[in-house]
Amino acid sequence: MIAADGAVSAAQARRLRPPAPVPEEREFGRLELLLRLRRNPLTIWRTRHFREPIVAGEGLFGYGVVISDPDAVRHVLVDNAANYRKDDLQRTILAPGLGEGLLTAEGEAWKRARRTLAPLFTPRAVAALAERMTGPAERTVERMSRRRDGRIVDIAADMTRVTYDILAETMFSNAIAGGAEAFGKALTRYFETQGRIDPLDVLGAPSWLPRIGRWMARPAISFFEAQVKTIIAERLALHAGGHRPGPKPDLLDSLLAARDPETGAGLSEAEIGANIVTFIGAGHETTANALTWALYLIALTPDVRERLEAEIDATGDDLAAAALSGERLAFTRAVIEEAMRLYPPVPSLSRTALADDLAAGRCLIPKGALVVVSPYLLHRHETLWRAPDRFRPERFLPGAREGIPRYAYLPFGAGPRVCIGQQFAMVEAVIVLAALLRRLRFDHAGAEAPMPVQRITLRPDGGMPMRVRAR
Ligand code: HEM
Repeated sequence: MIAADGAVSAAQARRLRPPAPVPEEREFGRLELLLRLRRNPLTIWRTRHFREPIVAGEGLFGYGVVISDPDAVRHVLVDNAANYRKDDLQRTILAPGLGEGLLTAEGEAWKRARRTLAPLFTPRAVAALAERMTGPAERTVERMSRRRDGRIVDIAADMTRVTYDILAETMFSNAIAGGAEAFGKALTRYFETQGRIDPLDVLGAPSWLPRIGRWMARPAISFFEAQVKTIIAERLALHAGGHRPGPKPDLLDSLLAARDPETGAGLSEAEIGANIVTFIGAGHETTANALTWALYLIALTPDVRERLEAEIDATGDDLAAAALSGERLAFTRAVIEEAMRLYPPVPSLSRTALADDLAAGRCLIPKGALVVVSPYLLHRHETLWRAPDRFRPERFLPGAREGIPRYAYLPFGAGPRVCIGQQFAMVEAVIVLAALLRRLRFDHAGAEAPMPVQRITLRPDGGMPMRVRAR
């Protein structure tokens, strides 16, 4: 039994099933499927999707194959990746905001951009950026500590702000023309409106037909484009005078200096702009959601919280060095990885097959088929995980982690299009979580358990109200 004050014992906590839509056995009609897609795409998955390695058939988008077999996943995303392109629906949703940035580019343009941008995110480059992450993390803790002790706040909003502040610092040394706040607001608006699947897209309506969501997002997108242009122009002027905003290059300095290792060519100004928006778009909400769900899961499990606090207290002041060491904050890292298993910030990857294919020797994928690899399904698949719905960070500790099949855990995707910001995001999330838990304690304060809802990223529906106290 749970105590009157809501506290749970460690043993009770281990049996809790963190909130998620309960899958149904029955099949859904087309209209119901459409409504579910619009409201929360997570609810289209039925019990068989969590049990069967491959589910294929006619769907709303024509013939579709949902793959949760690690060998077949590897085939599609890695071994025969050249046969698959990002599907049109994904491009329609993302492209108006992100332009020809790395996330939405295809073919030769993508290859060239990836080669050119890869050096910006190597472990060494991320190590150099890590020092810049601690400042915004510490300032967030300061700001939260100044609030009345025990106050209830929407942690999702705080996490969105801190990941945004970290990007503003690592990308622009915080030098944003027009102010970081206005830029951040436009970004939020973009995700609010753009991230929702429009039924017209699903039905394949022509792109000139206005989508209400996109139409509403237009001012936010134009605002971005103008701001980004100004930021680049100001930086170029600074460089022309032989200056940089900080002692070490930030991501914008590196973007402007990046050269294709094969041709020596730099990126065009339009490409630089598109990639700035892409890095913010791809790297901000994702990391914020990982942190938000981690804080929620920690609040549910007192033994995890205790162990985390002990690990963090035993770590020195230099959180960046500890996060980069890979050993000193191992449990903190494991908690983030397990939070992203249960609540993968990017819950679904999709591709279109360019030619007929056979994956893992048994899965026929006809030309034109929509192929879905859903980290959400994979991470909760009954054939791949023991107690898949339970929060058990120990799975990711050294010794246990090696036993997880590589293609069963895909928060950052895999293959040539794997997340370029993976190391950046992990170091950032460890630093922020450690900085927060060193000083503060979080308890869920919502009347109901937070339900994950899939927009572009996986968010808690209605935010994440938590009571924040000083430790
Ligand atoms: C927890 C945080 C993050 C998660 C879960 C995440 C997840 C992903 C996933 C799953 C993909 C592959 C999409 C696909 O294959 O269709 C991806 C791609 C990408 N991510 Fe991340 N991401 C995170 C943070 C970041 C950060 C911090 C940045 C940049 C600063 C970033 C930049 C990108 C870019 C540019 C791509 C496109 C790569 C390409 O297509 O070559 N991401 N991300």
